[in-house]
Amino acid sequence: MGFTEKQEALVKESWKVMKQNIPEHSLRFFTLILEMAPAVKNMFPFLKDSDEIPQNNLKLKAHALIVFKMTCNSAIQLREKGQVVLRDVPLKHLGSVHLEKGVVDFHFEVVKEALLGTIKEAVGESWSDEMGGAWGEAYDQLAATIKTQMEEEV
Ligand code: HEM
Repeated sequence: MGFTEKQEALVKESWKVMKQNIPEHSLRFFTLILEMAPAVKNMFPFLKDSDEIPQNNLKLKAHALIVFKMTCNSAIQLREKGQVVLRDVPLKHLGSVHLEKGVVDFHFEVVKEALLGTIKEAVGESWSDEMGGAWGEAYDQLAATIKTQMEEEV
């Protein structure tokens, strides 16, 4: 079975909640990433030189926001077209940036767990396993698209 209307609705519904407080959710997202994989600190220029995660950093918010937003868009595309078609950023660029930064499968898994953890906390009682499953599937398909491009960039 493909990505269902119900799954798309669950993603959109929680995205609406997330959108209301991007600064807080971005910070939580990066906190969870660094708890699971401290070395990721060295990949992001804005984390490298400080002991703490910066509270109001535009680039931090930008990466968190783009991961949230592109995953949400992937859910919409999976339901509409049955596949992920990137609209926000050219795929070739995404492939080369992540390759250059040394991003590997493990990092994609860490970011997935951090994404699900952040959403779970953000939506509180509205959370369900089905909601997590929908976000997880949209993320996996998006990550697979980026990873395929990374392999082509080698
Ligand atoms: C940069 C998206 C996963 C690390 C970027 C950029 C985008 C993006 C759009 C900006 C490119 C630019 O403006 O030049 C995504 C998406 C992801 C994802 C949609 C998952 C679905 C990851 C993962 C890591 C990572 C797993 C590693 C933990 C980075 C780094 C940069 C970057 C280090 C450069 C940031 C900077 O120099 O400010 N990503 N990314 N990304 N990404 Fe990701």
